[in-house]
Amino acid sequence: MGLCQARLPKTAKPLNPELQEMLKSQVIIFVIGGPGSGKGTQCERLAAKYQFQHLGMGNLLRAEASEPTRQGRQIKDIMLKGALVPSGFVLDLLNENLLQREEAKGFLVNGFPRELNQAKDFERVVGRPPNFVIVLDCSTETMIQRLLLRGQTGHRADDHESCIRQRLETHYSLCEPVISYYQQKNLLRNIIGEEPEDAIFAKCCSVIDSLR
Ligand code: AP5
Repeated sequence: MGLCQARLPKTAKPLNPELQEMLKSQVIIFVIGGPGSGKGTQCERLAAKYQFQHLGMGNLLRAEASEPTRQGRQIKDIMLKGALVPSGFVLDLLNENLLQREEAKGFLVNGFPRELNQAKDFERVVGRPPNFVIVLDCSTETMIQRLLLRGQTGHRADDHESCIRQRLETHYSLCEPVISYYQQKNLLRNIIGEEPEDAIFAKCCSVIDSLR
């Protein structure tokens, strides 16, 4: 591993017990799925409907990557390779955002966890698992088509074919243990992500409504 990666923490900072206590009573929903499965699209709509705070890990990391600092450049390089930013950094960033918005009615965390140690570290540091985990299941072909289409607008620097394939490879090589982990805890809610946006949204709403 190069010096660059060594500078981004692999291990998250601990939270003090008061902050853990505060997060115990919050609704926390993770939304995971491959690149282009529709996580961001659904989370935006769900956040508006339920007045939840949408925390998109990709968006938060893109903001960090845009900083004109060495750390910003390191994060940008990792993201443009379609690899994962080190977990400690990601979890610290997530916790910072959870704690800054304690007035929210709940949290939709999009794109976390992406590997098993992120799932376990969240529980270790925050002291609880999420209420549940929505998984958007989509075929590789659909995800590639959607991202190539979005790539035509030039909106995202990582929406070009080689990076899309690398993001998919990263996803497929790391997602299974995360899925099994939450399946064993009975927290997984699988939703087919191939349908039109409205149909997927209705299914996500049923899952969230089941909490009440
Ligand atoms: P991130 O920004 O989360 O990218 P991603 O996972 O590759 O997912 P996308 O944002 O591209 O897609 P999406 O599933 O949100 O779908 P969307 O709704 O946008 O992460 C970027 C990078 O950050 C990662 O590669 C990694 O480097 C880093 N990172 C992030 N989280 C991390 C973590 N936890 N740990 C370490 N590193 C991390 O939709 C895509 C397109 O499809 C849109 O054009 C949309 O309009 C369209 N669309 C959506 N739904 C439908 C539908 N039902 N029908 C037709 N089109 C649809």
